[in-house]
Amino acid sequence: MESFPVINMAKLDGEERGPTMQVLNDACENWGFFELLDHGISVELMDKVESFTKGHYKKSMEQRFKEFASEALEKGEESDASNMDWESTFFLRHLPESNISEVPDLDDEYRKVMKEFATELEKLAERLLDLLCENLGIEMGYLKKAFCGSKGPTFGTKVSNYPPCPRPELFKGLRAHTDAGGIILLFQDDRVSGLQLLKDGQWVDVPPMRHSIVVNIGDQLEVITNGKYKSVLHRVVAQTDGNRMSLASFYNPGSDAVIYPAPPLLEKEVEKEAGAEVYPRFVFEDYMKLYAGQKFQAKEPRFQAMKCTHAIPTA
Ligand SMILES: [Fe+2]
Repeated sequence: MESFPVINMAKLDGEERGPTMQVLNDACENWGFFELLDHGISVELMDKVESFTKGHYKKSMEQRFKEFASEALEKGEESDASNMDWESTFFLRHLPESNISEVPDLDDEYRKVMKEFATELEKLAERLLDLLCENLGIEMGYLKKAFCGSKGPTFGTKVSNYPPCPRPELFKGLRAHTDAGGIILLFQDDRVSGLQLLKDGQWVDVPPMRHSIVVNIGDQLEVITNGKYKSVLHRVVAQTDGNRMSLASFYNPGSDAVIYPAPPLLEKEVEKEAGAEVYPRFVFEDYMKLYAGQKFQAKEPRFQAMKCTHAIPTA
């Protein structure tokens, strides 16, 4: 099996730009996932984010999770484990407006560090979108604009901990799904693994790597690229040892953004074969409403449903 795609962003500025862009292209088309090194977010900031996140879990989340866990374990098979995730989470919104000051139980210093981290991630997401434009052969800024809507993009971080699970055969850390949004930037634990993606019918580990950022493609980028890039199924397997930290930041379209395949890509597709599949055109929040009830189901029926019930005609 080929090795998991890793991109050292420092190489984009030198002689190795060509082969590095090639890895990126292959990752977007065939893996839906890649891992970034030298991405420009400082090691000091990442270390602070990690230590505050782990400290916050211990102080404010662990007790509640233990209560949930002992109840779930007591019920065992009867707890309908197939509909549950062995995770402890909270959500921070950054854009269009931040909710960090209203989220309860966070230290002021943690709020400050997370705001700084979000600013860095937003810059990285936008840089990546332009690299993808280059790779796709479309105008720079196209993807950022496609995500804009009337209030700019939506951006937020799901802060998760996956505590050790004594019955991993019964509970999933997080059940298999594709991500609904645009581009996802993940800061994952470098010691406790568990994230896997589906490639060629097999579950492949996303290797933990210190200070890396794991990136994956969401359903909206699959639509905009008319299927050239893939939004891929992934899951978290519960571990018997260690507490896995995971901060997934979702750079998504604004709720009223109209999502549709980029016309230059569609033209290329149509030239290739008559009757080539064309992805739907819809308003992003309509997709999210559908996704809310179908997150753990296949993406294809969602695309189909958008075509049938929520499609909006071309202007
Ligand atoms: Fe996900």
